[in-house]
Amino acid sequence: MGAVLFCSNLDDPEEWRPPMTRLMPDLELRVYPNFGKADDIDVAMVWRPPAEGLGQFKNLKAILSLGAGVDQLDLSKLPASVPVARLVDDVLTTAMAEYCLLAALRYHRRFDVYERNARLKKWEYHIPRPAAQRTVGVLGLGVLGAATAEKLKLNGFKVVGWSRAPKSIAGVESFAGPDGIYKMAGKAEIVINLLPLTPETRGILNKKLFDAMPQGSYLINVGRGGHLTEDDLLPALQSGRLAGATLDVFQKEPLVADHAFWNQPAILITPHVASTGGAETAAPQVVENIRRARAGKTLLNQVDKAKGY
Ligand code: NAP
Ligand code: GLV
Repeated sequence: MGAVLFCSNLDDPEEWRPPMTRLMPDLELRVYPNFGKADDIDVAMVWRPPAEGLGQFKNLKAILSLGAGVDQLDLSKLPASVPVARLVDDVLTTAMAEYCLLAALRYHRRFDVYERNARLKKWEYHIPRPAAQRTVGVLGLGVLGAATAEKLKLNGFKVVGWSRAPKSIAGVESFAGPDGIYKMAGKAEIVINLLPLTPETRGILNKKLFDAMPQGSYLINVGRGGHLTEDDLLPALQSGRLAGATLDVFQKEPLVADHAFWNQPAILITPHVASTGGAETAAPQVVENIRRARAGKTLLNQVDKAKGY
């Protein structure tokens, strides 16, 4: 029986150990860097892999991401023959939909304006609009994007979305393909990014997209920092093309103290907290994937390495 490596700068292995051991009593979980003999390790649970990579683990049968995304693993540097799985977890999905609803409602009900006005002791009335008159666009209609679109719909917004293949989600207008993103953006006063970061999606939140959005729109980026073409954001805010942005993810995290985004009243920064998986709820799929890896079976939520997500 092999041992499972746990390697993360964010997740606490002692939160994972009890729910995993309940399901797999003979589990041997070894926490990086104290993993003993590298040849004992047959499965790696990782947020970011160790700096020296995973190449030293010659008997790896699976790499299990501790997040929904896998770009932080840099798929090109992982052993080619070893399958990778990502987390799909109800706690994570619910938290993401909740964050996106909150960020969208904040703009919809002009709380961003009232927060700034309150500091200036400025009493300025903005007539509220019904949510049914506000269209929110969701980039990426996968697990998180679809849940977010549904939550927005339930809260009365008009919802449009964009994905690689067209989707059928009740009440959500679906766009697909290279031109579809601009057609969708043309309708959306609030755009939420929930795409995975791949070579195709890197830099996709850029001037061309902002120019396609109605004047005075809002951007919410909860995908990855690499999706945003940073140099295009401040000009879009200065010109009024965008009225505000909520950013949870950044090209370099933590965001450096002298980054221009910190000084922008129109940018709300959160420290990559939109959602995280719950060890209790996610343990069953991780344990199942350890069993599957050892039995040579396809993993749950296995990543298509060619697509990058
Ligand atoms: P997912 O289920 O794999 O969904 C990805 C969606 O993006 C799919 O709808 C896919 O289209 C679409 N897509 C991918 N490449 C595309 C392209 N080139 N053109 C158009 N559409 C494309 O992923 P998920 O679980 O929803 O997670 C999405 C991302 O959220 C993660 O990768 C991660 O970066 C981010 N995330 C952030 C946080 C945070 O705290 N900020 C937390 C968790 C996750 P198809 O369905 O047609 O393939
Ligand atoms: C967090 O960013 C994740 O990918 O789960």
